[in-house]
Amino acid sequence: MGRQGTPLGIDVGGSGIKGAPVDLEQGRLAQKRLKIATPRPATPDAVAEVIDQIVDAFAEQTGDSPIGVTLPAVVIRGRVLSAANIDPSWVDTDAEALIKRHTGRAVTVLNDADAAGLAELHHGAAQGAHGLVILTTLGTGIGSALIHDGVLVPNSELGHLELDGYDAEKRAASSAKDREGLSWDAYVDRLQRYYSALEALFSPDLIVVGGGISRDADLFLPRLRLRAPIVPARLRNQAGIIGAAWRAVDLAVASG
Ligand code: BGC
Repeated sequence: MGRQGTPLGIDVGGSGIKGAPVDLEQGRLAQKRLKIATPRPATPDAVAEVIDQIVDAFAEQTGDSPIGVTLPAVVIRGRVLSAANIDPSWVDTDAEALIKRHTGRAVTVLNDADAAGLAELHHGAAQGAHGLVILTTLGTGIGSALIHDGVLVPNSELGHLELDGYDAEKRAASSAKDREGLSWDAYVDRLQRYYSALEALFSPDLIVVGGGISRDADLFLPRLRLRAPIVPARLRNQAGIIGAAWRAVDLAVASG
């Protein structure tokens, strides 16, 4: 018999791999998170080793409870199908089997923005929202989560819509602002084009904007002209960890 503890969420990003046990009732980290630099190159085995270190660090609190892990990629039934901002060797990896081999624990792997969307839905800016919620994360790329009446439609990848002949995230992710040295005015124009395109295609009831730049939401969100309300994410850099743990527990309950 395993020992039930607090579920563990782990968020794999380009610069750091962060994890913490999660208090799902309160929607917050049950303990200070541990962050370890993402290995370079960030191959599947190297990342899985870091995940194992995080699992070990919290072994006492988490017991045998499920582990949720995010990746910045399309993930279907544990298998990675894309690698826009991660090492290409992830494509076709069965990430759940790999991490299970390294950690000896049951693992659920999901897209990073999907995890953030679930966290915001249950504990953040989209709490209690009905209809269609689109969460976007503005960072190195643009991640998206599509949630209708509380049900996630996974792997939406709306950062890769074509915008003015480009992959949208190349134009409108916050990395584009930094890379091209865009003023807020110029960046707001890019975001307006992007969110207008999203709105024309999906008619969402609510748009939530996450990613590091959402700290400065006051500087750009009020300037966007859209039909749907557009609001900053609330859980900031904890959303991935919280959403990953949420998903892992949800699936463990569903499969009995
Ligand atoms: C990837 C998505 C990911 C997003 C944010 C995009 O480039 O295709 O899977 O969610 O970046 O990390």
